[in-house]
Amino acid sequence: MLTASLRGLRGPYALRHPRPLPRPVPQSPADRVLLWTKGLTKSYAGADGELPVLSGIDLRIRDGEVVALLGKSGCGKSTLLRCLAGLLPASSGTVSYRGEPLKGANPGTAMVFQTFALLPWLTVRQNVELGLEAKGLGPAERADAARRAIDLIGLDGFESAYPKELSGGMRQRVGFARALVVEPDVLMMDEPFSALDVLTAENLRGELMELWESGQFPTRAIVLVTHNIEEAVLLADRIVVLGSRPYGTVREIVEVDLDRPRDRRTPAFEQIVDHVYRTMTGREKETRAPGGSPALERRTPANTPLPPAGVDGLSGLAELVLHRGGRCDLADLADGLGLAVDDVVPQVDALDLLGFARLSDGELELTPAGTAFASADVQESKRIFGTAVWHAPLVKLIAGSLRQNPRGRQRAGFFRDVLAHHFTSEQVQRQLDTATDWGRYAELFGYDADRAEYRLLTGTDAQLEE
Ligand SMILES: Nc1ncnc2c1ncn2[C@@H]1O[C@H](COP(=O)(O)OP(=O)(O)OP(=O)(O)O)[C@@H](O)[C@H]1O
Ligand SMILES: [Mg+2]
Repeated sequence: MLTASLRGLRGPYALRHPRPLPRPVPQSPADRVLLWTKGLTKSYAGADGELPVLSGIDLRIRDGEVVALLGKSGCGKSTLLRCLAGLLPASSGTVSYRGEPLKGANPGTAMVFQTFALLPWLTVRQNVELGLEAKGLGPAERADAARRAIDLIGLDGFESAYPKELSGGMRQRVGFARALVVEPDVLMMDEPFSALDVLTAENLRGELMELWESGQFPTRAIVLVTHNIEEAVLLADRIVVLGSRPYGTVREIVEVDLDRPRDRRTPAFEQIVDHVYRTMTGREKETRAPGGSPALERRTPANTPLPPAGVDGLSGLAELVLHRGGRCDLADLADGLGLAVDDVVPQVDALDLLGFARLSDGELELTPAGTAFASADVQESKRIFGTAVWHAPLVKLIAGSLRQNPRGRQRAGFFRDVLAHHFTSEQVQRQLDTATDWGRYAELFGYDADRAEYRLLTGTDAQLEE
């Protein structure tokens, strides 16, 4: 299949750099801009009209830099990356590549995906050559370019293997080789390490940055999507922190002026992580009613996604804060536990959503309800949780619709369909997992996995009365 399609390719093709070149020394600032968005806005068509996702994004990607797009799930990172790659059209505003507004796919970019996106029936070499399909190369040039990309990325010896024979790390190397073989100006990566185990991810990140630093990388800039603060600080020269309320906007662009290779354990590194963390977790004004209390009446399953935090995790965090006097600096707390701040972000979001804690300027403080929850015995904590959980719109939706159903049952697919208008399928699944855990703990509803069905728990009618 591949051979047939490649045989059809014609025309001369000269690789821009016959062998790896050092990254060029930038000239004037104007020459350095590879990608430029001006007032970029993006909406998706939803069941109830347009769903705005990105608003007023002004961003420049310059020659020689690694830029990380950082933000929580659903803030529009992948959407922004796809707009930069020309895979999605802007709803308004412009995206330019080397000064020219984009019309269709960006010829200067290639993408690496979180899920590798390899074709299982093709070998490593054929998968890599696939990246060249649109370039009109002859067989010898294709083979030569693929061989160089495979060598560069450490896949030699695996050329004839099929994806299923490879480990996750090796599969992602194929993803890198397939993108690099076209020698794009800008390499785009959408959470390329997040499907890998910790050690493999660390190893691959390290190798990638070594190549980049040594000038062997056949690209001029890298744009990386991540939701991991430490990964952003480790890799990027600039971190674009995206906020998500009311829609994706640039909250701040943080310059990371640290020597490479970077050491996570230096005070300078930790200081930047701390700063980015505060920027990312600081609450936006729009979500607050006057007086600082959350504007609960405006919360819907669409605008208030549930964070991926189970009851065990969020109550564990609440107890730790309680032991520190009900208030503590979150970065210190994470550090004291040997965790990265990223590790506790979902739990902090959950405590905030449930009204158990407030975060301001990096300090997490338990509310009276949170203090009661953290100090109660199991039965009492379930009771307190059962009240607070109504702040979670998805839990409210599930419990409410079960109650309206005479059989007290509802298929999970119903909620999945409702959420699918606003979230990707992975985001929907993560949120349903959280809602199930919370609903069970509050003894509101249960979930029958065999029937993929939610069921009202008997004797909970009183609780349903809000
Ligand atoms: N094709 C689509 N149709 C409708 N809505 C979409 C579509 N793709 C994404 N969205 C919604 O747009 C918002 C931004 O999604 P996007 O995938 O860009 O976020 P993200 O920051 O990459 O999230 P994650 O960290 O989970 O990957 C989300 O609310 C998402 O559900
Ligand atoms: Mg994404």
